[in-house]
Amino acid sequence: MKIIVQPNYEALSKRAAEIVREEMEKKRNIVLGLATGSTPLGLYKELIRMHKEEGLDFSQVTTFNLDEYIGIDYDDPNSYHYFMESNLFNHINIDRENTFIPDTNVEDLEAYCKEYDRLIEEKGGIDLQILGIGVNGHIGFNEPDEELKVGTNIVNLTESTIQANSRFFDSIDQVPQNAVTMGIGTIMKAKQIILLASGKSKHEVMKELIKGDKITTQLPASLLLLHPNVTVILDEEAYRG
Ligand code: GLP
Repeated sequence: MKIIVQPNYEALSKRAAEIVREEMEKKRNIVLGLATGSTPLGLYKELIRMHKEEGLDFSQVTTFNLDEYIGIDYDDPNSYHYFMESNLFNHINIDRENTFIPDTNVEDLEAYCKEYDRLIEEKGGIDLQILGIGVNGHIGFNEPDEELKVGTNIVNLTESTIQANSRFFDSIDQVPQNAVTMGIGTIMKAKQIILLASGKSKHEVMKELIKGDKITTQLPASLLLLHPNVTVILDEEAYRG
């Protein structure tokens, strides 16, 4: 696990965008795994700038998002569909046919989860996966538990995650309690992973992860210690607390 500490959130976002750009230049039809949450917003802003000012080309790029809430309308600003449209896809030249976000409005969700993993495989697998991290160590929506699912799956969100995500909703009752997320195995199959962490609230979990001496399903991000190509980019606040 390569650790890069940046002085602040802006520098973290720029460094992440540089890596994404490098990989996009190496492979024009790259398959990107994308995350939501507040952490990757600066990265997306920088990628939009690179597209607008420097002609970074997304026309051949395919994307797969990590997760989506269950029971949310896609025109609800809190849905991850809406998030991706407004914070990235609307501002770059990506072909919407090549953007995939778990569709939680389907009848047979379990079958759909399997289909999502199959589709990722069919597109050649994820070349570069962007990850944020929950304060409890979740990645995607793989919550700490006695066991973790390998493939894309349906999850019940923990109280801590519902609490953390309630800041985006009018009230905590409106936060969906369930979601579909890529599984740990889906994430681990990505050829390269960048995990971003910013701010004091992520310090405790990052301290544990960076220590790097044990893997446990109670800290889902620790499974990344087994992956051969992970870069963690964090700011001073997340690093030093
Ligand atoms: C959500 C998302 C995760 C994200 C995490 C952290 O629960 N499902 O993919 O990494 O929250 O969010 P933030 O970046 O806002 O701290």
